[in-house]
Amino acid sequence: MSLRLSFSLSLFLVTAAAAAASLAAAASGALPGCPNMCGNVSVPYPFGIAQGCYMPGFRMTCNDTYDPPRMFMNSGNLHVTEITDDHLTIDILIARDCYKPLNLGPDIRQMYVDVTGTPYTLSYERNRFTALGCDTIAINYRTSFLTDYTSGCVAFCGDTSSITNGSCSGIGCCQTAIPQGVKRLNTMLRSLMNHTTSFSISPCSFAFLVDQERYVFDVADLRGFASRSRVPAVLDWAIGSQACEEVKGAPDYACGPNSYCLNSTNGPGYRCRCNSGYQGNPYLPGGCQDIDECADASTNPCAEICTNTPGSYVCSCRSGKAGDGKKSGTGCIRQSKRFPLIQVVLGAGLGSVFLLAIASWSYWALKKRRMIVLREKFFKQNGGLLLQQQIASRDGAAETARIFTSRELEEATDNYSESRVLGRGGYGTVYKGILPDQKVVAIKKSKVVEEGQVEQFINEVVVLSQVIHRNVVKILGCCLETPVPLLVYEYVPNGTLTHHLHDGGHVSSLSWETRLRIAAETAGALAYLHSAAARPIIHRDVKTANILLDKAYTAKVADFGASRLVPLDRAQITTLVQGTLGYLDPEYFQTGQLTEKSDVYSFGVVLAELLTGQKPLSPTRPQQEKNLAIYFLLAMRGNRAFQILEPRVRNEGSREQLEGVMEVAKGCLRLKGEERPTMKEVAAELERLRRASAGAHPWAEGGGDDTAYHSLVDQRGNVNASAYYTSASSGDDSIEAHILLSLDMQR
Ligand SMILES: *[C@@H]1O[C@H](CO)[C@@H](O)[C@H](O)[C@H]1NC(C)=O
Ligand SMILES: *[C@@H]1O[C@H](CO)[C@@H](O)[C@H](O)[C@H]1NC(C)=O
Ligand SMILES: *[C@@H]1O[C@H](CO)[C@@H](O)[C@H](O)[C@H]1NC(C)=O
Ligand SMILES: *[C@@H]1O[C@H](CO)[C@@H](O)[C@H](O)[C@H]1NC(C)=O
Ligand SMILES: *[C@@H]1O[C@H](CO)[C@@H](O)[C@H](O)[C@H]1NC(C)=O
Repeated sequence: MSLRLSFSLSLFLVTAAAAAASLAAAASGALPGCPNMCGNVSVPYPFGIAQGCYMPGFRMTCNDTYDPPRMFMNSGNLHVTEITDDHLTIDILIARDCYKPLNLGPDIRQMYVDVTGTPYTLSYERNRFTALGCDTIAINYRTSFLTDYTSGCVAFCGDTSSITNGSCSGIGCCQTAIPQGVKRLNTMLRSLMNHTTSFSISPCSFAFLVDQERYVFDVADLRGFASRSRVPAVLDWAIGSQACEEVKGAPDYACGPNSYCLNSTNGPGYRCRCNSGYQGNPYLPGGCQDIDECADASTNPCAEICTNTPGSYVCSCRSGKAGDGKKSGTGCIRQSKRFPLIQVVLGAGLGSVFLLAIASWSYWALKKRRMIVLREKFFKQNGGLLLQQQIASRDGAAETARIFTSRELEEATDNYSESRVLGRGGYGTVYKGILPDQKVVAIKKSKVVEEGQVEQFINEVVVLSQVIHRNVVKILGCCLETPVPLLVYEYVPNGTLTHHLHDGGHVSSLSWETRLRIAAETAGALAYLHSAAARPIIHRDVKTANILLDKAYTAKVADFGASRLVPLDRAQITTLVQGTLGYLDPEYFQTGQLTEKSDVYSFGVVLAELLTGQKPLSPTRPQQEKNLAIYFLLAMRGNRAFQILEPRVRNEGSREQLEGVMEVAKGCLRLKGEERPTMKEVAAELERLRRASAGAHPWAEGGGDDTAYHSLVDQRGNVNASAYYTSASSGDDSIEAHILLSLDMQR
């Protein structure tokens, strides 16, 4: 029942709104080519100023010797100040009668307003015959005093304290209504005592017909009206003298299409209105235009789908929902079998939402207190005190590393929203974060750290925060208040090298020049970590997924989650084997002995990847060659290396460069760590090859066959061109062992 009520209410509201809309709109619109304004007063058809612009009887005159110009009814002297589609407002004179000795100007004791013979009638709804004064007898009559309609009111003051603002009940002010259908009204003003007894309060009497919506008695008017001559009164207007039923279909029927006829409420005649759902001037042909109720998506009456129709609109719901679809009605509710059920569910739902709100608020408050305690605990457990100490003892580190609060990082990552995930790796999830100063950062949520590793972790944060190399992702700080430490890095916008090499849509997106530069930059960064940093750092997880690219495709080595600091005494470190299959150093895998050369091996795989565009592990290659390192080494041994290069690389690279880089890769991939070059040597060689590009011609132009290459490579795939390589013993015998090992690793 309440639903039905609200529905009919909404229907009423919609109709009322439509009516109001058409009301406002009809106030504009003259006939085409006709002036529609006189001064600031608009003149809608059927009214008009110029010849041929008005319906008979609705002529107006615009006198522009006034500023602003004034409009007068017909050619007469009734000043029209406003036209709406119901009413006309005119300014009429105030009758007055004052205490003679004060000489307040000429009296106007007799006054009339007459619109006989026009389509206008004095509005009985809006106008009130009003008299002000303390010795006032005001009379109004239609045509002749006492023999025709006659009325009036008297106002005295007596107890002056009873004169009240807004009250016209005979003390200082009196008022009467006027009858329906009056077109002429005469006013007569008299006093009983010639104002002799009351002139100190009110020296004059005033009488006028006024629009009650525009005049409210003010005590001050008893004196103030002495300087006022006119008040606004309202006229109703109507077309012709016939009722709607009589005129419909007649040749002079004034209502245009999409409009309806309305009997005048004040005497004979009719008016027109646009049908609901239309707006405009109903007296003009084509004046009533459809209202597009759906035009404004935010204010349209529908909850979901709004369809405009001529004169109306249809609200509908998306599939799976039911209801009248109106914002003011039932809206759209998820489909349910029976109607009452919705009400029950709604009632129960609101109740339980309220209870739930209270419950969750207290739960939240309790939880918040516990969280604070917990955060402090984690901070200690994660070595926050240790780090604070470390930072305090190093002046420089304070600038490079910062301890973030968990709150700061929650806000920066939108509470670790899924939409902010940049990537997931073996060591945790990386989120994109935006700090309050709009700086974009990458935030890594590590996987659980064992308690014994905390000291190590802190050391790494401190050391890494001092690693400043343009090809190493910069660590900005960390947060220790969470169960697992969070690391904050600089944000590198262009994704990983893996993405650019292997993901769909990026096929061959990197030129050979870029690849070689990335290789050289990465090698430089690793060399720096191995030797230049305060204490050598072994990355332990060198792979294309950990090489990030910035806007200019500059390489940034990232993810030191697995990295280890080399102890100062350089004793061998034995760790649990960690790394990524396909990049993992077989020797390290076998022995667990971690050295810088493990990074060199992994970098060799990265080089092979850059050269061939192949993934480090590919199920599409034959069993033995699933591992890219093996595949690459076997191809080199079989003098087929040229054939496995990515076509783009083969076309763009010069012979010297390609041969050189292949040799570097081969050296890095040696089974025995001690036979591999150092990262520093690799970096130097790659830099040299980069510079060698000038003047070199692409490999593909070098005869198009492999003969040139064959001459450089002996039957076992050994090339003796590189300086560092000559010093290494022939490790190629180990390729079979390499294969066996890699198969073992893949198991
Ligand atoms: C026209 O202008 C006069 C004075 O400039 C102002 O009092 C009156 O309210 C205006 N009328 C309309 C309809 O804007
Ligand atoms: C305009 O008004 C002035 C002053 O009331 C009057 O003298 C003049 O005749 C009027 N002009 C017209 C065209 O009615
Ligand atoms: C009547 O209203 C006017 C403002 O319109 C105000 O200044 C005056 O004090 C009021 N008088 C009384 C008696 O309330
Ligand atoms: C009011 O004035 C008129 C003429 O001005 C006079 O005839 C009449 O007697 C006066 N009435 C009173 C009550 O003073
Ligand atoms: C209009 O007035 C006529 C006669 O006064 C009456 O018969 C008719 O029902 C009225 N029409 C409407 C729509 O009020």
